[in-house]
Amino acid sequence: MKICMVGVGYVGLVSGACFADLGNVVWCVDKDTKKIDMLNNNQIPIFEPGLDELVNKNFNSGRLKFTTNLNLAIKSSDIIFICVGTPTSKKRRSADLQYVFNAVSEISEHINKFKIIVIKSTVPVTTGDKIEKIILKKKKKKLFEVVSNPEFLREGEAIRDFRFPDRIIFGSNSKKVTKKLVSLYDPLIKKGAKFFSTNRRGAELIKYASNAFLATKISYINEMANLCEKTGVNIEDVSLGIGLDKRIGSRFLRAGPAFGGSCFPKDTKAITVAGDLFKTDLSIIKSVIKSNEKRKILLIEKVKKILSHKIKNKKIAFLGVTFKPNTDDMRESSSLSMIPFLLTKGAKITYYDPSGEKKEFSKLKNISFYNNAREACKNVDLVIIHTEWDEFKALNFKKLYKKKKFKIYDMRNLYSVELMKRKGFDYYSIGR
Ligand SMILES: NC(=O)c1ccc[n+]([C@@H]2O[C@H](COP(=O)([O-])OP(=O)(O)OC[C@H]3O[C@@H](n4cnc5c(N)ncnc54)[C@H](O)[C@@H]3O)[C@@H](O)[C@H]2O)c1
Repeated sequence: MKICMVGVGYVGLVSGACFADLGNVVWCVDKDTKKIDMLNNNQIPIFEPGLDELVNKNFNSGRLKFTTNLNLAIKSSDIIFICVGTPTSKKRRSADLQYVFNAVSEISEHINKFKIIVIKSTVPVTTGDKIEKIILKKKKKKLFEVVSNPEFLREGEAIRDFRFPDRIIFGSNSKKVTKKLVSLYDPLIKKGAKFFSTNRRGAELIKYASNAFLATKISYINEMANLCEKTGVNIEDVSLGIGLDKRIGSRFLRAGPAFGGSCFPKDTKAITVAGDLFKTDLSIIKSVIKSNEKRKILLIEKVKKILSHKIKNKKIAFLGVTFKPNTDDMRESSSLSMIPFLLTKGAKITYYDPSGEKKEFSKLKNISFYNNAREACKNVDLVIIHTEWDEFKALNFKKLYKKKKFKIYDMRNLYSVELMKRKGFDYYSIGR
């Protein structure tokens, strides 16, 4: 099939490359010329395991094309996926749909024959209706169909998630279009992915309801971890104990810092706004948002306590600053609030992240990036294990510790409390 991805970010690039790998011809369009130039020169603008190989293979075969020319891409394609960002609006908590609406008006200019417009971006329920109205201003109804196909891939595991999704959610009122999309996804359906189709509004809401549920699970276990710390119970036992119940399930029950990333924080906010708009108080999700905000403060308080409330001139190393491993994405990472706070209190920060130095900290003083964990942790007073990268799971702290004693705050519970105690480390973790 001939496909166009509008917006070549984490979702557009990964799904575009995967669709091309299934044998389709995929045009990837972005407004960002730098990004498109990089891709046309075999460089990958984001950190995603396995993506460079997949992109290069399909680019070289001629099935994957990168351009800033929307007209050419639209005219060459039958199915157009909208994959632009939907961040939180600057003024309110709602989703900022300007990128989606702008992309749609630009696309509508170039529709020359029947096109299926697929909304892959996460958009609030009823956005599809608004998109349809925008296109109707320029083109007749028989020239297009707007459908919803939200994306569920996770950064860091995006290729695997695309190839082996638990489910493909599709929302359309047209049987003909549903049939076409089933045949596009057929290779994945044959491998066991469930294709669930509903109406357009239903698909839009399923995406938000899923993310809000997962965020709730994280906040729930984080609050249980707080109780564990007060009662001498191990949160990992609680997670295991409740996760064994099939009705609950064991995933997303690992306590840690406040949830971050490009989806959960913005999607929980946006769904509560949609709830308010339709006069439905989504009080559970509202309290999840509050709980997550509180958690950021709570963990900073814990750092203060570990350092006996003396932060000035303390050297603190962060191992990992991204919101999760195997991605370079810093959006809403808890390090973005922790590090500036500690700096204002006079701390000196060093950090190492396997995905590289971060522009988010480039304007701050008293913070430096190192190329490896050992260098970042040299002569510090406290090591904070912030992100669960594999390479932090078996660090040899002994050598460093011999030179200078330091404390360790493991926010990901990567090490055993007993073992660390036995080895003589001043070790703190979450809910244990
Ligand atoms: N990142 C994820 O893990 C993830 C997972 C599932 C769903 N989503 C959803 O998918 C959507 C995209 O997320 P992302 O993380 O890939 O965003 P992103 O910010 O990484 O990429 C968006 C891209 O769209 C481009 N763009 C904006 N307006 C454009 C236009 N008019 N024409 C062409 N290109 C344009 C931007 O330049 C950018 O490259 C969001 O709605 C998000 O919520 C993201």
